Amino acid sequence: MRKWALEKKVPNLLSGLYLHVVFLLGSVPLSHSDRTPEELAAIRNCSKQDGNGRNYDYMEGGDVRIRQLFSRTQWFLTIDDNGSINGTQDPTNCYSILEIRTVSEGGILAIKGVKSQFYISMNRTGALQAKRSYSESCNFKEVFLENYFNAYSSAKWTKQNGKGMFIALSQKGRPLRGRKTRKENFHSHFIPLKCREEEKRVE
Ligand SMILES: *[C@@H]1O[C@H](CO)[C@@H](O)[C@H](O)[C@H]1NC(C)=O
Ligand SMILES: *[C@@H]1O[C@H](CO)[C@@H](O)[C@H](O)[C@H]1NC(C)=O
Ligand SMILES: *[C@@H]1O[C@H](CO)[C@@H](O)[C@H](O)[C@H]1NC(C)=O
Ligand SMILES: *[C@@H]1O[C@H](CO)[C@@H](O)[C@H](O)[C@H]1NC(C)=O
Repeated sequence: MRKWALEKKVPNLLSGLYLHVVFLLGSVPLSHSDRTPEELAAIRNCSKQDGNGRNYDYMEGGDVRIRQLFSRTQWFLTIDDNGSINGTQDPTNCYSILEIRTVSEGGILAIKGVKSQFYISMNRTGALQAKRSYSESCNFKEVFLENYFNAYSSAKWTKQNGKGMFIALSQKGRPLRGRKTRKENFHSHFIPLKCREEEKRVE
């Protein structure tokens, strides 16, 4: 297997995720086989702590997906009990488990932390905020990029020039102001990672 440059940068994280497979081979979404059994066990453990006791197999289905959003800057997006939106490099951090619900056609979705039960919202000035209750400001449009990453722009607010404001994490794992983000910029690129084991597909 060829090594990918980023792998050298964060060897522990990426050796577990085999991200390079995605970059080299294309459209294969990361599934259970890309994660260690220990990691999956720890993630499954999060469902015991999320306040409603449901496991992810039960929660996932229909218009709901349970995912982690792993940024191109190498952080898992988290939303904690204090409503802080941030990044973590711990793939088993329970605050990184997100419920992604389709709100309407055209890839409009709402993202909620399963453990904290906060929605991720963006306000008019492009600041990411945690919200207890759902509103239109919690709607994001999922954009599929050519490089196998996705970008998530506020479905309600745009910059003054009409361009999108995106969820983005800096190199230090801090959220960026929507006004400073662009679809083309790597800070706004994320890969949704599955959080549970799947039945093996026959190729
Ligand atoms: C699951 O959580 C319990 C307590 O919350 C902990 O003792 C145990 O080590 C965890 N297991 C894994 C696989 O993380
Ligand atoms: C929330 O904030 C309190 C007080 O600042 C802190 O002690 C606690 O660790 C924070 N909790 C999380 C999950 O970040
Ligand atoms: C956000 O994440 C960074 C990097 O892990 C950490 O240093 C910082 O304390 C976190 N901030 C909050 C509010 O949790
Ligand atoms: C947007 O959110 C930021 C950070 O929470 C806050 O400082 C600012 O006042 C908010 N702006 C508006 C227009 O709500």
